[in-house]
Amino acid sequence: MTEHYFTREPAAQAHSREVSFSLAGRNYVLSAASGVFSAGRLDPGTAVLLRKGELPKADTQGTLLDLGCGYGPIATVLATVAPQASVWAVDVNSRARELTRENTKGLNVTVAAPEEVPEGLRFAQIWSNPPIRVGKQELHHLLLTWLPRLEPDGVAWLVVSKHLGADSLQEWLHEQGWDASRHASGSGFRVLTVKPVRSQAP
Ligand SMILES: C[S@@+](CC[C@H](N)C(=O)[O-])C[C@H]1O[C@@H](n2cnc3c(N)ncnc32)[C@H](O)[C@@H]1O
Repeated sequence: MTEHYFTREPAAQAHSREVSFSLAGRNYVLSAASGVFSAGRLDPGTAVLLRKGELPKADTQGTLLDLGCGYGPIATVLATVAPQASVWAVDVNSRARELTRENTKGLNVTVAAPEEVPEGLRFAQIWSNPPIRVGKQELHHLLLTWLPRLEPDGVAWLVVSKHLGADSLQEWLHEQGWDASRHASGSGFRVLTVKPVRSQAP
């Protein structure tokens, strides 16, 4: 039976891989393995997100979330460029979490399964290349679970392929009452920002 990258406990043997990329003047070499998303190279969508999104600054503090971390490229970059921030990396796939733990050793990253994240924790930023392949209903459920955990002035950075429905997702987010905008496009992907709509002063 074929396993999806979002399988919770991949049964297939883990063939180790290495993913190298450069970003904002730094070189990264990360461990990946079969059974996790895009183990052979930095996913082109993730590359667009990290290159076109506004990465946190060196003095950024607060709590940042990498939602659906895979082997951890986003969490690794966030924690490297913003060492004072506290980064959470969350994934349902246990192999992905193991790899992220290995890749973020020495960085301020907590790796967790979704149910392990303390309920009251709020995020200044959420970064995600979300799992579109889980299906629309599950994706919507995922976003409606985590977006409400943004701080009132927080922002989520999402990358979605145009071909896989970035524009309709943006519209849906808008209908759900979020301030969803297209920040950038590149290589067939949209980088969206999603913010809570500020309540009007009476
Ligand atoms: C498109 S991949 C992105 C992986 C990684 N961030 C990257 O850029 O290479 C989406 C990830 O979301 C994870 N995922 C799927 N359903 C999830 C859920 N309900 N909660 C958290 N993560 C989930 C998958 O296991 C997968 O690793």
